[in-house]
Amino acid sequence: MTKPQTFFVKTFGCQMNVYDSERMTELLGAQGLRAVDNSDDADLVVLNTCHIREKAAEKVYSDIGRLKAEKRPNGVKPMVAVAGCVAQAEGEEIVRRAPAVDVVVGPQAYHRLPEMIARAAEARAVDTDMPLESKFDALPRRARPSGPAAFLTVQEGCDKFCTFCVVPYTRGSEVSRPAADVIAEARALVEAGAKELTLLGQNVNAYHGSGVSFANLIRELARIEGLARIRYTTSHPRDMDDDLVAVHAEVPQLMPYLHLPVQSGSSRVLKRMNRAHTAESYLATVERLRAARPDLALSSDFIVGFPGETEADFEDTLALVRAVNYAQAFSFKYSARPGTPAATMEDQLDEDAKSDRLARLQALLMAQQHGFNRATVGRRLDVLLERPGKKPGQLIGKSPYLQSVHVTAPGLAIGDLVEVEIVSAGPNSLEGSLIQKAAA
Ligand code: SAH
Ligand code: SF4
Ligand code: F3S
Repeated sequence: MTKPQTFFVKTFGCQMNVYDSERMTELLGAQGLRAVDNSDDADLVVLNTCHIREKAAEKVYSDIGRLKAEKRPNGVKPMVAVAGCVAQAEGEEIVRRAPAVDVVVGPQAYHRLPEMIARAAEARAVDTDMPLESKFDALPRRARPSGPAAFLTVQEGCDKFCTFCVVPYTRGSEVSRPAADVIAEARALVEAGAKELTLLGQNVNAYHGSGVSFANLIRELARIEGLARIRYTTSHPRDMDDDLVAVHAEVPQLMPYLHLPVQSGSSRVLKRMNRAHTAESYLATVERLRAARPDLALSSDFIVGFPGETEADFEDTLALVRAVNYAQAFSFKYSARPGTPAATMEDQLDEDAKSDRLARLQALLMAQQHGFNRATVGRRLDVLLERPGKKPGQLIGKSPYLQSVHVTAPGLAIGDLVEVEIVSAGPNSLEGSLIQKAAA
């Protein structure tokens, strides 16, 4: 196989994979490879995969099969690299199930991608090490961010071992990047045009880089001129300490929106999940946050049909949702993952029971989301314009509460932070009318 000239990265899974894909794109670009817009034109296709649920993980095998079966005019098959969490969890199995794959590289080793691609021209290259050297030190300096809202990984890995979750195995143990490195990367992104940064970590509020707490990291970042908005995700309810809560009251750039996954409203289920919090302690945390920042909007993740979940447990989840009133949420049917403790628990639920509960939970969450959106009609909100809309002259941006807002007005550009009045609201997006081009 000849050395590839062009490449395409396809991203599955969470925001950290989006971030990793951007870094891989910069890395390959620095090697002289050219990014193309779809896999059909690429000599190299990188699948940046997710292992969190069975469905997500299985997609990679059908993708490899499809890419290698493709008939191209020149008869050449693309080189296929599997990166991300499936690569880490199933490295050897991928090679067994999909022998045509050329490169397998884990999430902590992708800075080695260029040499692996060079080797793969001869024979398959596999690297799922969790090397001591940090990939962050080996990657090129941040190039232009893909838009005005950029992701920045500050912490990676997880030591919490929730009994359903593969992340501690795919991303390794919790590591925080030194604060100076994070601040340098943040400055580079802002200089290159980013106005909003979302700090990423599997447990981002457990951050403790070179003795700097997460609360102090946010205070430091807020001093960067030109950085208008700061967000962070995903935080764990157990690490929501008083100082971090105080930052929500204190730092105006920190947006009034927080993704705080609870998973279940039943303390009995939470215990079996090894979440190290109860429904009551979660609600108390929400109360502390809302006392600090009364307009804080919340989102969450939920798992329904965890092994042993009874109808009464599920009703506790519905009750918690009613008590919190979420602006947005993600909910999933429990998926048994190989190697996790919950996968071998007795009393697994059948698919029908899970589907039934998921539909009931989603109906409630969707009603809350729509209600939250409707409540913003008539309000003036700042919107950071991020991408073009479907209609001529239309741009789509995000409100402080992460709602998608459509704005149509002459003279606006992507990257503008504008003030709009919300004129209508659907379940998934809002319509804004321009008040002024500079945010309030
Ligand atoms: N670090 C985050 C979540 C990472 S995974 C946290 O601690 O909350 C993202 C979401 O996927 C989880 O919040 C959970 O709701 C869901 N998830 C994880 N493992 C799952 C599984 N085995 N089955 C179904 N959903 C799962
Ligand atoms: Fe997974 Fe739990 Fe860690 Fe989140 S805190 S990544 S759900 S083990
Ligand atoms: Fe998926 Fe890995 Fe993210 S398993 S959710 S891509 S950390």
